[in-house]
Amino acid sequence: DKGLYRHYMLKEIYEQPDVIARVLEGRIHQGHVLEQVFGSGASELFDQVKMVQIVACGTSYNAGVVARYWIEKLVGIPCMVEVASEFRYRKTVCMPGTLFITISQSGETADTLSALREAKEQSYLGFLSICNVAGSSLVRESDLAIMTNAGPEIGVASTKAFTSQLVVLMLTTLVLARRYGFDDEQEIVAQLEQLIGLTEQVLALDPQIQKMAEHFVDKHHALFLGRGTIYPVAVEGALKLKEISYIHAEAYPAGELKHGPLALVDEDMPVVAIAPNNSLLEKLQANLEEVRARGGKLFLFADSKAQVKPGNDLELITLPDVPTVMAPIIYSIPLQLLAYYVACLKGTDVDQPRNLAKSVTVE
Ligand code: M6R
Repeated sequence: DKGLYRHYMLKEIYEQPDVIARVLEGRIHQGHVLEQVFGSGASELFDQVKMVQIVACGTSYNAGVVARYWIEKLVGIPCMVEVASEFRYRKTVCMPGTLFITISQSGETADTLSALREAKEQSYLGFLSICNVAGSSLVRESDLAIMTNAGPEIGVASTKAFTSQLVVLMLTTLVLARRYGFDDEQEIVAQLEQLIGLTEQVLALDPQIQKMAEHFVDKHHALFLGRGTIYPVAVEGALKLKEISYIHAEAYPAGELKHGPLALVDEDMPVVAIAPNNSLLEKLQANLEEVRARGGKLFLFADSKAQVKPGNDLELITLPDVPTVMAPIIYSIPLQLLAYYVACLKGTDVDQPRNLAKSVTVE
């Protein structure tokens, strides 16, 4: 039931504060993540992890790319991420001590399931599934599973499934990190608890984002830029826009601009930049000035730390200041709203975009 919402997608975007609360419920105790929530035998398995291989499709893959940054930074072990349709059909090399993680909303995605089955023929340490559907094929065929507790997601465009996957991936990062001497777990857990309120604050930006969407209605292309953990958030933002508004959108790590995409920038190419305060902010700002110098119009999502010259070529949405590791979760929300309002203005079928199915159970 959509309730008072016009579409399931909007309802699901607005459910995110509650979903995050549900993801955390029963999973943390006195500032620490409880390991038993991953299943029996989880602790013994986690003790042996030296490397991580993540496999998923679409939005779930984008969540996996964020996790790679987190795992390599906070745990300090190598993490590889690959789309399932590539992983399953190539010769891959499994290093000893590698934990194989699948991420899926439905747990029935054909490529992800086949990649898991392929991987089971190799010498992976164990198989963890991060999934929204208990009892799904992926969960049944994995050694360990943790549910994302997002509730049913009806809109084809994944929204609350993505943010809930990110929260679970952070819990996973923390249980691995404590084995490698990471001692800020309580601090990160406290930040996870603050996410609920922050998400509500970001949703309150809705009217501003709705206004911003008007600039995209007559556009055929859009470029999304981010750096670091925010690069996969840019990819996810571009995916949302193309899926439901049919505007061709591409995401680039901002540092790649000069290596090609800058040639596309002109007044017809809106550039969406996601720029929370982090160690790469200065570099990103320099990239943005390059865009403006070429006549490109910038749509910037940033916080109080961003220093940009005001101008007619800039539309700015200011988000609350958030802890760096939480930024991918928070910044994905305004991009969901942007795609949603552009699609509404264009009059497309938001919840059931053309040519797409909610669950891709065939290749
Ligand atoms: O159910 P899954 O998470 O395995 O689905 C993977 C993709 O099909 C899915 O994320 C798709 O990309 C979404 N429609 C994106 O919004």
